[in-house]
Amino acid sequence: MDKTGIEKMLRPKSVAVIGASATPGKIGYTVIKNLLKDGYKGKIYPINQKESEILGLKCYPEIGQVPGEIDSAVMCVPAKVMAEVVEECGRKGVKGALVITSGFSEIGRKDLEDEVVRIARHYGMRILGPNIVGTLSNSEKFNGSFAPCLPLPGKNSLVTQSGALLIAMDMATYSRRIGYEKMISIGNMADVDFADLIEWFQDDEETSCVSLYIEGLRDGRRFIDVAKKSNKPIIALKSGVSAHGAAAAASHTGSLAGGAKVYSAAFKQAGVIQATDLDNLFYRGLTLSMQPPMKGDNFLIITNGGGNGVLATDAAERFGIPLKFAPDDVQAEMKKHMPEYGSAKNPVDMTGMAGNDWYYETVKFAIMNKWTDSVVVLYCETAITDPAEIAASIKRAVDDSGVKDKPITVSFVGGEKSDKAIGWMVENGIPAFFAPDTAVNAMAALREYAKLQENKKSDGAKTDEKAKKLALEVIAAARADGRTSLTEIEAKKVFELYGMPTTKIGLAKTEEEAVKLSKEIGYPIVMKIVSPDILHKSDAGGVKVNIKTEAEAREAYNTILKNAKAYKADANIHGIAVQEMAPWGTEVILGSVSDPSFGPTVMFGLGGIFVEVLKDVTFRVTPVSKAEAEEMVSEIRGAPILSGVRGEAPRDRKAIIETIIKYSSMIYDLMDEIAESDANPVLVYAQGEGLRVADARIILKKK
Ligand code: COA
Repeated sequence: MDKTGIEKMLRPKSVAVIGASATPGKIGYTVIKNLLKDGYKGKIYPINQKESEILGLKCYPEIGQVPGEIDSAVMCVPAKVMAEVVEECGRKGVKGALVITSGFSEIGRKDLEDEVVRIARHYGMRILGPNIVGTLSNSEKFNGSFAPCLPLPGKNSLVTQSGALLIAMDMATYSRRIGYEKMISIGNMADVDFADLIEWFQDDEETSCVSLYIEGLRDGRRFIDVAKKSNKPIIALKSGVSAHGAAAAASHTGSLAGGAKVYSAAFKQAGVIQATDLDNLFYRGLTLSMQPPMKGDNFLIITNGGGNGVLATDAAERFGIPLKFAPDDVQAEMKKHMPEYGSAKNPVDMTGMAGNDWYYETVKFAIMNKWTDSVVVLYCETAITDPAEIAASIKRAVDDSGVKDKPITVSFVGGEKSDKAIGWMVENGIPAFFAPDTAVNAMAALREYAKLQENKKSDGAKTDEKAKKLALEVIAAARADGRTSLTEIEAKKVFELYGMPTTKIGLAKTEEEAVKLSKEIGYPIVMKIVSPDILHKSDAGGVKVNIKTEAEAREAYNTILKNAKAYKADANIHGIAVQEMAPWGTEVILGSVSDPSFGPTVMFGLGGIFVEVLKDVTFRVTPVSKAEAEEMVSEIRGAPILSGVRGEAPRDRKAIIETIIKYSSMIYDLMDEIAESDANPVLVYAQGEGLRVADARIILKKK
């Protein structure tokens, strides 16, 4: 991907403001004012057909008349003239445009947007937006927006799909003392999207963490590919995760908000850390931009208050980094800096007697010793200490330790002095917060980042060409028959082609065939109606189980046919499936959907009530790697059931993992054909005994 256009729009040496205005309060006026006020050093060319000068700058009636080169244009003209103006910019050789103007796809005028992009592409020009606030960059002193001012400087950069949020967060950087290097409003993403900007940020030395506010992604697969390669942490807040929220987001940006679970899965696969709310995006982003990843699970909590220590310990468990007792040698050292009634176990409670020196010694040792991978320092403001001095001691301990690859986060609970000390620490590169939970949550983000980095090495897609060819033949036959769903027999055939063991099954069109098949398969057997018009077979009385004899087989065959006709007189009945009655096993479910943002996506969970009532399922975007399949099996809440509970033998985990991978290949290979599918139940046997797909369903995409 050519980054020139993005480079020109984010680091322009010269910028034209098209639709610049001399009328205070108008956006075209505000952009010029902001560029001047915030100290932009490049050349500014206001373009206005009537004015000769705006805010002391010479105006040009059209961009073509500006002498010399122009890197970027900020568009503040109405949507109806945008195509014309973009054409003029293209002819002038402008390589990037920030299109502030609204009135495009977000109100159903995708045609206008497409036209603008078509013209821009013709000239090799990139478009940010439309429907944006603009962009802000501290290092460039560039405020090409109608946001009031540049944010407080930081090493973190934000890309947001909501312009209003950019303005609000811009202001909040000052009250929260959490700064940003760049803030980019991405709007309708007609051209430049999240993936493009993540790619561009790789070489931006001013940015050490990329924060995203996402309402919906269009090309989720490219997002995953690009984010996976990122050399910087990426943190994303995805809105629209509730059903109601999704509807709001969809109407806001015109983009599709995919399922929350699919987004979470995709973020994991892409190595993207997820923020749970706006606060979280702020402080996790700050921490990721300042501190190295937490490479192992061992960390020490150092405190002068027992209550704070307990709160932090609880938070550690909640946020996935449970605390361990410190080894004896660490405890022995810690004991040197606390009264007898202190505790060195972890949390290291130095008690309210702790002063500057104890904080210094303890923090320094904690960072330097081999056992610890990170340190969370807590402080409660007391009358015998000065928060500023404690903060200085912590900073000195970090500096004197000389250790650069172990992260630290801090919590200061107290009044104004503590608040000031927090600000001072943040300015000096130590993420510091009020609540102990926040300090722990921030540390958990650094642990998540380290783990995600390890997991990013996926083994990718391997198409099974032979299986694919034969499966496509089965699908083509069903389509030729005018169907958009496969029968169970056909679906199982496709599963078998991809190497997934299914229960034996055959189609009987007469009572005699049913008897013959039953004998071949072996009693006990199951019989099921096969009809594209009857999807809920049990409801129609179309299933009989545990058929043990020929007489029972004859009776079942006739009863099912009778029930089916009674259920739907004109149902197209293909016959009756005669199926092996597989021995009982633990029921699991595999499913797939074609996600609007990420495409073919698979689901795994325990079957029965676990899926129906508890919705205990997990997703991954295909292709699923072995490590990801293992994660899927481990991360469902019911995972212990598969490990064997109440004296039961553990289930065949290896077989489940292999099956998830095979299922993922099937869904990936057949993504143009399969809309949805499931294998439910899959019966899983004891370790070494494998599993069997007992029922399978494949719904085809409408063509
Ligand atoms: N070339 C140069 N200037 C042109 C022009 C052209 N082809 N066509 C119009 N202009 C000038 C106008 O004369 C005017 O200047 P003036 O104040 O001197 O008269 C200026 O461009 C702006 O045009 P105007 O018609 O007055 O529009 P506006 O300022 O009321 O609104 C937008 C323009 C872009 C701000 C408005 O259409 C819009 O989209 N607003 C929403 C922005 C937004 O919310 N973005 C998303 C945030 S999340």
